[in-house]
Amino acid sequence: MSETEAQVREDLALHGGGLARVRSAPVAAVRFRFEGHQAWVRRLAVHPEWQRQGIGRRVMVWAERDLRRRGHRQVRLGVRKLLPGNLSFYEALGYWVAEDHGYWLELVKTL
Ligand SMILES: CC(C)(COP(=O)(O)OP(=O)(O)OC[C@H]1O[C@@H](n2cnc3c(N)ncnc32)[C@H](O)[C@@H]1OP(=O)(O)O)[C@@H](O)C(=O)NCCC(=O)NCCS
Repeated sequence: MSETEAQVREDLALHGGGLARVRSAPVAAVRFRFEGHQAWVRRLAVHPEWQRQGIGRRVMVWAERDLRRRGHRQVRLGVRKLLPGNLSFYEALGYWVAEDHGYWLELVKTL
């Protein structure tokens, strides 16, 4: 919550991301981060009114396809332990826990 709009713009210009729309209204967003050859998916968020309708899953499928098309064979992301539902969401998509960082887990998936 401490990120400013300027920081988000800068991050998007550097790493890119995606926006999902339903009838032109934005309903979900996701951002990428590239660290060397490693690709991270970050800040996935579905508008509360649109959650549990398969949009998060579709955004992740899009993100994984996009990364694979660009030559990435692995993707990583972080999940806070406070949100076990998010872990279930990613595990259902084939992610597994690669590392425990205390308050957050690092998940990985081979594309
Ligand atoms: C986590 C989040 C992105 C999931 O997106 P979504 O569109 O609601 O998820 P989907 O409808 O595609 O869910 C697909 C499957 O994931 C699992 N799942 C999703 N949310 C879940 C939850 N809260 N608890 C348990 N399982 C969950 C279910 O298996 C679900 O299938 P089902 O609805 O048929 O049971 C969304 O809830 C969100 O934006 N949360 C707030 C922001 C956030 O925490 N982002 C994650 C940063 S790591």
